[in-house]
Amino acid sequence: MSATIIDGKAYAAGLRGRVADAVAALAANGMVPGLAVVLVGEDPASHVYVKNKARQTVEVGMRSFEHRLPASVTETEVLDLVSRLNADPAVDGILVQLPLPLQIDTQKIIEAIDPAKDVDGFHPINAGRLMTGVRGFVSCTPLGCLLLIRSVQPNLAGLDAVVIGRSNIVGKPMAQLLVSQNCTVTIAHSKTRDLKDVCRRADILVAAVGRPEMVRGDWIKPGAIVIDVGINRIPNPDAGEGRTRLIGDVAYGEAAQVASAITPVPGGVGPMTIACLLRNTLEAACLRRG
Ligand code: GUN
Repeated sequence: MSATIIDGKAYAAGLRGRVADAVAALAANGMVPGLAVVLVGEDPASHVYVKNKARQTVEVGMRSFEHRLPASVTETEVLDLVSRLNADPAVDGILVQLPLPLQIDTQKIIEAIDPAKDVDGFHPINAGRLMTGVRGFVSCTPLGCLLLIRSVQPNLAGLDAVVIGRSNIVGKPMAQLLVSQNCTVTIAHSKTRDLKDVCRRADILVAAVGRPEMVRGDWIKPGAIVIDVGINRIPNPDAGEGRTRLIGDVAYGEAAQVASAITPVPGGVGPMTIACLLRNTLEAACLRRG
């Protein structure tokens, strides 16, 4: 069997197009949604993410507000900025790029964001809404994964799903979203016994562990849908000294022989995160100003 390749790049472009159409309709009535992104410190990967977010925010017609703070900033200064953004009527969505420097209590910052502007879906109010089946903002990466899964299998009821990884940002909300789709869900993690056997039971396998190609072809049930959240940068000496390339948490070549559908890395889940962020920001603007 050779799997269908789930083209996240194309899906994300379509989603951004639909967001842009809705933004244009709002703008015609004088309402332009705004997204504020807070970047603390000099982490190179975070700088790249934030640049891409700002570019795509403007491309769909929204306003982008970037706040760059030095790595030495105090927790109080970040809290003050969040509080100003909460009060700013031009700001519909607030995203504080993670990770934050060690002197800052990340949870305190997340909980300071107005849940109505929490387009990352990280605030406990929004996490709790997801858990209890109430409408709220859902973390962008798992939301993107669900959209991709449903693009190849619209009805997930009764399917066995395994999520490898239990982070608050991906693993836990992913599992909750799959429960909301009536899947039978297992969350696997570093202490899970017989991980390979657990994975082999999955009709839907979501890998979010951050370990390059950990999931091998013989971990996959024939015909499963495989979603690879991993973005691991590894050396690529073939391309020259010091060059790197991206690979996922799944051994793609092996897995594509067994799965019915699979996301590539890059070009799978990655582009969906920002597209879902823009979708959440549009929703925040509609709910706040509607
Ligand atoms: N760092 C890595 N991914 C994310 C994300 O989705 N949101 C935020 N705020 N920070 C991140």
